[in-house]
Amino acid sequence: HLDRARQAIETHARLVPDFPEPGVAFKDLTPVLAAADGLEAITAALADACAGADLIAGIDARGFLLGGAIAHRLGIGVVAVRKGGKLPPPVIGVDYALEYGSARLEIPASGIDFHGRRVAVVDDVLATGGTLAATLDLLEQVGAEVTDVAVVMELEGFPGREVVGAAGRGRVRVHN
Ligand code: PRP
Ligand code: MG
Repeated sequence: HLDRARQAIETHARLVPDFPEPGVAFKDLTPVLAAADGLEAITAALADACAGADLIAGIDARGFLLGGAIAHRLGIGVVAVRKGGKLPPPVIGVDYALEYGSARLEIPASGIDFHGRRVAVVDDVLATGGTLAATLDLLEQVGAEVTDVAVVMELEGFPGREVVGAAGRGRVRVHN
């Protein structure tokens, strides 16, 4: 499945120069997910990485698209890890630093029994690792066991994998 996913990215991804800052080339995955074969290939590859989980956590925003498709494929449920202020109370939140600025992520503190759940976390891109580390933090707070982290792309020149590894205390496998 990995080869097909790589092929789909090569075929459909769009390179945007100077976004979000001058000198940065942004690889836009939007057209990949918009293509039927692209979504299928990406979802299949990430689902392989999440096979041991019984719940998928998809990170705002493209992690939602991926997470739902992966969970459906695996026959398990999905929960959205949302940017601050979107979920109804009660929530558990954590503030974290972004590559550009800072942000807050939240999950529901009620209605989902996270305790002892085997959760796989999915997102589109891993850069500094701040977003994923914050998510692992949140899931640990509610007693979930994060088994895997699956992303479509890792950006070069960032310590993302190490940051996620540390946040997962070495128990979380990172796939891309
Ligand atoms: C981007 C990307 C990842 C995150 C990775 O999301 O989608 O979620 O940054 O960066 P990190 O590893 O340095 O934390 P962003 O927060 O920019 O917003 P979006 O997903 O809503 O577009
Ligand atoms: Mg994001």
